[in-house]
Amino acid sequence: MIYISTPIFYPNDELHLGHGYSMIIADVLHRLHKLCGKTSWLSTGLDEHGQKVAKAASTTCRSPQEHVDILAQLFQKLYSTLDISVDFFVRTTSENHQRTALMVWDKLQQSGVLYKGEYEGWYIPSDEAFCTEKIPGAIWNKEQCVFFRLSAFQDKLLEMYEQDPRVVYPLSARNEIMELIKSGLQDLCVTRTTDWGIKIPGTTRTTNNNDPTSIEYTMYVWIDALTNYITASPSGSYYPQTLHILGKDILRFHAIYWPAILMALGYTEFPRLFAHGWLIQNGTKMSKSIGNVISPQTFLARFGIDALRYFCIRSKRAANDMELDWDNVKTVCEELKSGFGNLCQRLLIQIHKQGGIVPQKCTLKSITTLKSSIENSLHLKDPSECLWNYGATLVDAMKELNKYISDSEPWKKEGDERSEILAFALGGVQELIQCATPLMPSACAKWQKQIDNIDQEKPRPVIIFDEQAIHSPSQPCT
Ligand code: MSP
Repeated sequence: MIYISTPIFYPNDELHLGHGYSMIIADVLHRLHKLCGKTSWLSTGLDEHGQKVAKAASTTCRSPQEHVDILAQLFQKLYSTLDISVDFFVRTTSENHQRTALMVWDKLQQSGVLYKGEYEGWYIPSDEAFCTEKIPGAIWNKEQCVFFRLSAFQDKLLEMYEQDPRVVYPLSARNEIMELIKSGLQDLCVTRTTDWGIKIPGTTRTTNNNDPTSIEYTMYVWIDALTNYITASPSGSYYPQTLHILGKDILRFHAIYWPAILMALGYTEFPRLFAHGWLIQNGTKMSKSIGNVISPQTFLARFGIDALRYFCIRSKRAANDMELDWDNVKTVCEELKSGFGNLCQRLLIQIHKQGGIVPQKCTLKSITTLKSSIENSLHLKDPSECLWNYGATLVDAMKELNKYISDSEPWKKEGDERSEILAFALGGVQELIQCATPLMPSACAKWQKQIDNIDQEKPRPVIIFDEQAIHSPSQPCT
């Protein structure tokens, strides 16, 4: 069994396409494993604590809990709109997650890696991260806190990356992480004195104005968040056969803090990490704070969910950044519409005219090797290459089938000759539909339904775009 996770998202605002990208990559990989007969478990969820979320709640005049409860419903709706088949949806305010996070905390304390001290330095609330210099948005913090002895794990982390280069993909990201570790790790402040977070029993501190009453610390939101991978795992405890999917901006937390915590807890096997590139808009990362986000609904209204998923996988290798402009979208979506859409549509119309047909084994090379090529992609380990090869394999099969139909011109033939061509092509298309389901679950289900009802209902196009959107002149996607 493989456990695949997405990052858990901050419910400080509605999700944009950049967040959707992490989810689509994870979901396609999850469904691909299942296609190849493997058991796969997919988790996602919400990172509901921390200053960033508390601040967002305060602007709505709701309590943080009311705020995250409302956004949790919106998020769950979006997952189903994006055809994400989640096995576990974590919320960090849930009782079971808080229990897990506190259990991890207790174990860390017992293993002697936590100690009390004072943090003085910069903190950047928009990233919920401590930083060494003043960068835009950073605020100066001076507070009593509990530290995690991260520096003690420097050599062990380096050893882990040297021994097994396949822990982090792409390999260039692994090299960057190794450089970062070599430059020296400082102990990490793992508590906050802000209110909205998991309260840690037994870790009292005096309040800042020296009020004699002592209050509890809250857990630093990244420690809280990383432990979600235990809450959401298929076994309910730490599960090493895990692939964490995440954007490259949060690799440091996953590639340094998380394995160090796991080492402190006594584990010797570590999850694989895949740091994907960003969705770029007008040259910069799509981000709410920059103001260049596209909502999934905007894209879906014009192109639909299958085009969105197709675009995410076919536009670029997932390890690279991907510019989302109309020219890019058009090129990739035209391939989907005139390739897959056209193939299914023209074949099904011919079969409908015939009054139905029994599929036969299609012996075109790309079809007979389709499943095994996909299995080979899955063995690649590097998720970016795996997804890229998967998409290319489907396109090769689609092209060969389209060519077969064009060359054999069933519309010009009659009787057995015509039936044989259609049955052969239908066998191929059914194989293709099954294998393309991880990429486009909705379209494939519709095509299959049309095949099942072919003698009763006239097939209708499944891939439909807003023609105006696809033929509009080049302009940024806003
Ligand atoms: N809550 C943390 C993650 C904790 S996981 C233990 C967080 N949340 S986030 O909501 O800010 O981001 C979630 C994910 O969305 C990250 O993987 C991030 O890289 C991804 N993306 C946000 N904007 C993106 C793009 N423009 N493009 C691609 N991915 C982007 O960080």
